[in-house]
Amino acid sequence: MLFVLDIILNDDRKPMKSIKALAPATVANVSCGFDIFGFAVESPADEVIMTLKSESGVIIRQITGDGGKLPLEANRNTAGVAAEAFLKAIGSDAGAEIILHKKLPLGSGMGSSAASSVAALVAINHLHGNPFTREQLLPFAMEAERIACGSAHADNVAPSLLGGFILIRGYDPLDVASIPTPPNLYCTLVHPHLELKTEDSRRVLKASIPIKDAITQWGNIAGLVVGLMKPDYGLIMRSLNDVVAEPIRSVLIPGFANIKAEAIKHGALGSGISGSGPTIFALSTERGIAENVAAAIQQQFEKIKLKSDVFVSKINNEGARVVE
Ligand code: HSE
Repeated sequence: MLFVLDIILNDDRKPMKSIKALAPATVANVSCGFDIFGFAVESPADEVIMTLKSESGVIIRQITGDGGKLPLEANRNTAGVAAEAFLKAIGSDAGAEIILHKKLPLGSGMGSSAASSVAALVAINHLHGNPFTREQLLPFAMEAERIACGSAHADNVAPSLLGGFILIRGYDPLDVASIPTPPNLYCTLVHPHLELKTEDSRRVLKASIPIKDAITQWGNIAGLVVGLMKPDYGLIMRSLNDVVAEPIRSVLIPGFANIKAEAIKHGALGSGISGSGPTIFALSTERGIAENVAAAIQQQFEKIKLKSDVFVSKINNEGARVVE
């Protein structure tokens, strides 16, 4: 059912449909799965209010919560790019107006650019009577990622759109699968007040890896999938290791080695860099453990005079949603 949040009269006094959608933050890579694993969390979530208009083109009317940093030009903003790609795909001459309330910190590694494009897509798709399935919306959101950081990776947009823990089995053609997770898995996110651009965090990576590291990495990838599905917490613990991106990127995060050690000491199954950083994620089997781990990580950041925000939640199996 189409939910009409608001009725706005345009210049011709025709009623315009408006709707609000939320898209959650995500943890991409999940240590060993660079560009192929990602899961959604419950909060924070970006909020988009989308209004259809009869004139063609996408307009971003307002952005809040970004400190004035995000572009209002639709073709430079992930929410705008995604909405434009959607309208082009359905061959629409009509347009849309977007209000974006940023709740995710920018350059945090929590899938900020993805959450905006996904919220815009879910809203505009809904306003058109859902001509596309969630999976069919993925390429539009990936195009927005390309604009944001130069790479059309799907490990943030896919879990934000679909919910749960997602495997990107392949990119050409795009092939995604959902991995069941144990119901008592809690995610800790600690976001230090630092900004890292995904583009920069990708540029530091090496173009090739030794076969020895590849063997370690694909063993961990398979181990994590089996560990989540069984579930086998020992196997999850042993598999939450990344020998490809983390050793290089961790130098960009002050105190990373201590942070990881503290997370494990306080009972986490594992911990690593969320997406391209600097946010740290950890997985635990109880909320209490996840909260203790959050406090321990936050304390490590405090020691080096870095303020941070904490988010603890279960894995969000629903993903983006239209708000009624
Ligand atoms: N897989 C991407 C990366 C996620 O690590 O660069 C970016 O958030």
